[in-house]
Amino acid sequence: MSELRVEALDAAYGHSQVLFGVAFEVERGETLALMGRNGAGKSTTFKAIAGLLPPRAGRVLVRGQDVAGRKPYRIARAGIGFVPEDRQVFPEHTVEENLEIAEREGIGGRDWNRARAFEMFPMLAPLRSRYAGRLSGGEQQMLTIARCLMGNPAVLLLDEPSEGLAPLIVQEIGRLIRSLRELGTTIVLAEQNSRFCLSVATRVAVIDKGSIVWAGTAEDFRAQPELQARYLQV
Ligand SMILES: Nc1ncnc2c1ncn2[C@@H]1O[C@H](COP(=O)(O)OP(=O)(O)OP(=O)(O)O)[C@@H](O)[C@H]1O
Ligand SMILES: [Mg+2]
Repeated sequence: MSELRVEALDAAYGHSQVLFGVAFEVERGETLALMGRNGAGKSTTFKAIAGLLPPRAGRVLVRGQDVAGRKPYRIARAGIGFVPEDRQVFPEHTVEENLEIAEREGIGGRDWNRARAFEMFPMLAPLRSRYAGRLSGGEQQMLTIARCLMGNPAVLLLDEPSEGLAPLIVQEIGRLIRSLRELGTTIVLAEQNSRFCLSVATRVAVIDKGSIVWAGTAEDFRAQPELQARYLQV
């Protein structure tokens, strides 16, 4: 059974339909890159899965259980961990408190806790007593991902984790995603940056104008530069 299976997902903002039958599947331990240019529908797909924008049609199966249209907190409990584009930390709480608040046994087990987060995110360890609002953008991004892991999700959805960050931090986030993959974490990553994506993904799905137009292995994707020229900004 897939960790996440999205079937025929339609979503709209008011009268403007943005997703048209989006479908893809992620097996345990895979890192799927959802690639597409500006406005293609990557964030909307994540919002529809996570329940922030209830889909108009379709199914969202988390380990076989359809969660489409449920409240976001219930979808989170069913195993979807969502890291949105805008970093979400509690600025008035310390790094450690931010993690503590989010600590919870989840569907993915109880592997993740604060101690492990500080091992996995060595940049955060010396900052544990600092207010989250005083961290740099890159540090906040790390903390947001770490917070999400504290809920022990089955699937981690990362919306453009490298966006707007300095090259060194982007490298660090890439390293982190590869380590998570080695630990067997199931990840879906939305990206426009194909170099970053291909350095971490095992499979690729390309979204254009609200539909999946191509899906395959990262290797196949690399071998077809015309795909990148057609569907991504190069
Ligand atoms: N809150 C909103 N209200 C109305 N339309 C929206 C809203 N958010 C996004 N859209 C529209 O939905 C379409 C898909 O947007 P979405 O944010 O999902 O794209 P994206 O692939 O994440 O793009 P980006 O790479 O810029 O983040 C775009 O045409 C966008 O203008
Ligand atoms: Mg987006």
